[in-house]
Amino acid sequence: GRVAVLLGGKSAERPVSLKSGAAVLAAFERLGIPAEGIDTASADWMQTLKADYSHSFLALHGPGGEDGTVQGALECLGVNYTGSGVMASALGMDKLRCKLLWLGQGLSTPRFVELTADSDWTAVAALLGEAIVKPACEGSSIGMARASNAAELEAAWQAARGYGRVFAEQWISGSEYTVAILDGAALPAIRLETDASFYDYNAKYISNTTRYFCPAGLSEADEAELNQLAINAFNSVGCSGWGRVDVMRGADGQFYLLEVNTVPGMTDHSLVPMAAKQAGIGFDELVLRILATSLR
Ligand code: DAL
Ligand code: MG
Repeated sequence: GRVAVLLGGKSAERPVSLKSGAAVLAAFERLGIPAEGIDTASADWMQTLKADYSHSFLALHGPGGEDGTVQGALECLGVNYTGSGVMASALGMDKLRCKLLWLGQGLSTPRFVELTADSDWTAVAALLGEAIVKPACEGSSIGMARASNAAELEAAWQAARGYGRVFAEQWISGSEYTVAILDGAALPAIRLETDASFYDYNAKYISNTTRYFCPAGLSEADEAELNQLAINAFNSVGCSGWGRVDVMRGADGQFYLLEVNTVPGMTDHSLVPMAAKQAGIGFDELVLRILATSLR
């Protein structure tokens, strides 16, 4: 039957999702597979889907799409979907709960503190030193800011609190890596370099000065360690199918888990397509491989 590419939605990452969805639809067209885009921001997307489709490809990012809500609706409708199930999607959207889970498994992640109206900003600044403030449940660096003292922490929390729960995480000064996972295996790691203060929305989607290294330049042993950490992080959250795990490496060589993305971007600036290409998997084949993860 036809494939529904679910895209758009109402999250702050809507513009990214529209780009991911358009790239996936173009791949289906080249492959000669009938597919249509369905925007989950529309009032009747569930009726449309139930009437006409048995398979869906999720190109939704952020809350209300990547977070288990749409996955739950699809379970109820009996429509197959790509990627992780309800529980892993919900957990994967929540960076704070992932970090707690990883700590419990002995997987390393930067030190962190949840921020609230009652936070002792001076104490948090003393504990973390240089920090990065993040909404727990957003993507694409939306709402994130660096903070190196109490006043900056409070200002960053004020700016981010509209996105829900917020935390401050110790800034790891070193290099940034990402590991794409497809069918339980790691694709070649990518190392990212940005001239910005961190790999923010602009560096991700707009700037042409962000530098990507794939192969990442790690020794074989270090890449194996990074891949294993990413796979352990992915599996411990209960993820399946495909995804991407973001990791920092400190100056001391230690890897630290930042987060798992259960519906990573598929835009022309995105990282999973880049890693797949390095592994000899073109974009269209990648889309097919991801679609196949819906057949469970
Ligand atoms: N949240 C964006 C889409 C990503 O992880 O690629
Ligand atoms: Mg993310």
